[in-house]
Amino acid sequence: MATIESILHEKRVFPPSDEFVRHANVSGLEAYRALCDEAQQDYLAFWARLARQHIDWHKPFTHVLDETNAPFYKWFDDGELNVSWNCLDRHLATNGNKTAIIFESDEGAVTHCSYRELHAQVCRFANALKSLGVKTGDRVLIYMPMRIEAVVAMQACARIGAIHSVVFGGFSAKSVRERAINAGACVIVTADQQTRGGKQHALKTTVDEALAMGGADCVRHVVVYRHTGATIAWNTPRDRWWHELIDNQSAKCDPVWVNAEHPLFTLYTSGSTGKPKGVQHSSAGYLLGAMVSIQWIFDFKPHDIFWCTADVGWITGHTYVAYGPLAMGGTQVIFEGAPTYPDAGRFWKIIQNHKVSVFYTAPTAIRSLIKLGADLPAQYDLSSLRLLGSVGEPINPEAWMWYYTVVGQSRCPIVDTWWQTETGSHMIAPTPGAIALKPGSCTFPLPGIDAAVVDEAGHAVPPGQGGFLVIKRPFPSQLRTLWNDPERFKQTYFPKDIAGGSYYLAGDSAQRSEDGYFWIMGRTDDVLNVSGHRLGTMEVESALVANPLVAEAAVVGKPHEIKGEAIVAFVVLKGIRPQGEQAAEITATLRDWVAREIGSIARPDEIRFGDNLPKTRSGKIMRRLLRALAKGETITQDTSTLENPAILEQLNQPGR
Ligand code: WTA
Repeated sequence: MATIESILHEKRVFPPSDEFVRHANVSGLEAYRALCDEAQQDYLAFWARLARQHIDWHKPFTHVLDETNAPFYKWFDDGELNVSWNCLDRHLATNGNKTAIIFESDEGAVTHCSYRELHAQVCRFANALKSLGVKTGDRVLIYMPMRIEAVVAMQACARIGAIHSVVFGGFSAKSVRERAINAGACVIVTADQQTRGGKQHALKTTVDEALAMGGADCVRHVVVYRHTGATIAWNTPRDRWWHELIDNQSAKCDPVWVNAEHPLFTLYTSGSTGKPKGVQHSSAGYLLGAMVSIQWIFDFKPHDIFWCTADVGWITGHTYVAYGPLAMGGTQVIFEGAPTYPDAGRFWKIIQNHKVSVFYTAPTAIRSLIKLGADLPAQYDLSSLRLLGSVGEPINPEAWMWYYTVVGQSRCPIVDTWWQTETGSHMIAPTPGAIALKPGSCTFPLPGIDAAVVDEAGHAVPPGQGGFLVIKRPFPSQLRTLWNDPERFKQTYFPKDIAGGSYYLAGDSAQRSEDGYFWIMGRTDDVLNVSGHRLGTMEVESALVANPLVAEAAVVGKPHEIKGEAIVAFVVLKGIRPQGEQAAEITATLRDWVAREIGSIARPDEIRFGDNLPKTRSGKIMRRLLRALAKGETITQDTSTLENPAILEQLNQPGR
């Protein structure tokens, strides 16, 4: 994979075609600059104008931004709205029969769901939740397969002002339990199983396990959507079938009008400690971010067929599946399965069959599809595509070029979108009818987003120099706090030493080149990015040391051709340092153990055993040495502060 140095010297530039510019929502550089200037001249008037234009308010706001309790910012906070109403009801009169969702199952069955049908399903399920006693402000945990019903469950919560917390279906029972307890969830919505790549994975059984561990007494009901029909254990009266619950429910459910700042959802994400944090989003500001980014970056057109491949378990699946496309009144594809099932042409076939015009996926998917069939896209008709997107991790220039020339046939701009769970929507990404693209750069901030690269004190660094990526002014879609942990929110995102705590600190390092383009270099904290998924090294370490065999563990990332980063664990066992067969056995045990503790995305790629870990005399683990070892680099760093230099030799043996 290209190093950051070679990316920075990227000379290839791809300006939009005249044809694209002519039809673009933001047409030409001048139009982009005009928006930026508008924001610059009167920041609050800019956001107020957009909020009035894009959102239907039940009660219009008069305040734009309240900074009195910074960094707990409030936007539009005397306004009232309902997000589900904005996503569904407002389209019914003019677009009720328009397809909202084209769903394709793992096995290839296709269902079209109109706005009217989706609205009815959401209302029925919202009434079902009410029948279980779910009220405005209550938390509902959603642990569902990637199907229409996952969106229905989320929208139903929004409709009644319940706060959902979606947990990705790949997370373990322990993770489900931890999140349910932290959120204080009263209901869990799940399915018997999920299907991906021709395989079934338990969901309900995992929820049962999570609840059997105890501590989650807040959960009164488990609602189960019957998907595969697998036999599952049943706990009466706690468990309720989805289909039975909605059976007699009305297809009308008045939305609950909530304050603009009412929490729409929390979503757990990894940070630099062992405990995932519950990122809390607002209703109006979040919705606005989703909508303007679809308008500007995805250049939304009413006839588009939009397809974002992210699972609703991640922020991308919230903003660009469950909310954004619906709020815009668009048509989108939702796909249950895996990109490589039944073969590596599946994505291209879906694009062909459903005439997808805007396609949004992750570099890890692109890299694996290149590997499994670089020439496959040519066998499909991809002429419907007009715009491509990338998200989740830096895209290496080779993958970018393949995506551009082979998938987009050198016709479709690629929007490389930098943003985070915390920012809610795109922050730095090319406005495709305005900005010339450079492979590997997410280019320029969205209008109104004051992004910068600064040093430890918050001073701007010169072009070409790395620094911390910050956003200098509050923006509507940013997280409002961490659920149950306002202190951690302040310390993590608004540290006092950077500009007195007034900047949002993203946790990424970045550089700008002379011409102002942004280049993201990676995390500055102990967070790994494995296949575009965030994972804290501490989380994996705590999972490892929870195993009775393990005395100590340190986890680092190393570059990986497909996944971006692979997980390497350095482990000290109690009493022994296994070798040969025994090492292989224990490695297998520990890998499965971590998958059970956190979820299979956290399964270490490699484990190495030592009698100890490289530590300073004060006992601090020297992670930079471990990173070098993991990469197979010769240690050139100064090791004189190391208490036990001999250990490096031991840990230098490749693991398995
Ligand atoms: C990384 C996903 C480079 C970054 C939306 C960020 C990226 C983290 C890009 C957030 C990109 C996301 N280029 N890096 N276009 N997009 N990242 O919260 O390190 O799952 O901090 O949100 O992914 O991951 P999260």
